[in-house]
Amino acid sequence: MFASRNEWNSAISAKAVGAWRRRVPSCASPGRFPTPKKGRCAARSPEGNPKAGNERALFPASGKERVMSWLVTRRECLGSVGGLMTLAAFLTTARAWAGSAEPGPPKGALPQLSLEPLPYPVTALEPFLDARTLEIHHGKHHAGYVAKWNQTLEKLSQKRVREETSDLIPLYQSLSFNGCGHVLHDLYWKSMQPAVGEVPAGQIAKALEEDFGGYRRFLEEFEAVTVPIEGSGWGILAYTPLADRLTIMPCEKHQNIALWDSTPLVVCDVWEHAYYLSYQNRRGDYVKEFLRHIPWKQVEQRYVRARAAASGQKSPGLT
Ligand SMILES: [Fe+2]
Repeated sequence: MFASRNEWNSAISAKAVGAWRRRVPSCASPGRFPTPKKGRCAARSPEGNPKAGNERALFPASGKERVMSWLVTRRECLGSVGGLMTLAAFLTTARAWAGSAEPGPPKGALPQLSLEPLPYPVTALEPFLDARTLEIHHGKHHAGYVAKWNQTLEKLSQKRVREETSDLIPLYQSLSFNGCGHVLHDLYWKSMQPAVGEVPAGQIAKALEEDFGGYRRFLEEFEAVTVPIEGSGWGILAYTPLADRLTIMPCEKHQNIALWDSTPLVVCDVWEHAYYLSYQNRRGDYVKEFLRHIPWKQVEQRYVRARAAASGQKSPGLT
């Protein structure tokens, strides 16, 4: 009967507005407008100047008001055969929506994500990482985070359409976990390259020298922090505008232990799915080999962009 939710809303609103107009007085004065209270007019608020004839602007619809509008409309509908057909259409459509996965209007919604292809063939990192590991890691694990992010957004959108505030925490926890999972994996693929042994140069080399005491010291700290991460997590080299410095974060899962304003530059996935086919329980060997495959020229470009973007954002508490 109705092709979309918007079409139904338009139909039901037109009838509700028509009924309302027949019940309220005509307020001829430009400084006054009709209210839902029978026979009353009210002055326009100083800050508000709603459009004439736009009842939604005059009376932002609360849940109770929408129910009342629907009841008024239902009485009108019951007064005619056309009305009965409209009511039947409503019930049919409502039943369809109840069982539908249609997300509804994206009211301020976060965007859906899509999975980008790997920046190299799945065999490109062998023997460091085998092709099967990359296929499963990218095609199953990373794809799973993207899919769950999108599914969570649909559930959140449905909650907003129904104006429900119950059980929102699991949805936002899911967005945090799966969103961080996607961001980190996207950067993980770019934190490795087939070539071995590139060393930092230029601004990133200077930053490693100033912020860690040199490239060798950075390698030692990164390995010492990343290998023993409890359970599943990430070793992260990040730039933090807080102090205009590089730092290391031993992230657990995808979202725990972070310095909030930081920009990740290099991320090493130490979930077992990242290395177990090639290295089994030898996480240390995997991390050592990972550090030999970092594309430092690209890392320097990320560092320069992050620093420029954060220019002027240092904490006012710093001296
Ligand atoms: Fe992973």
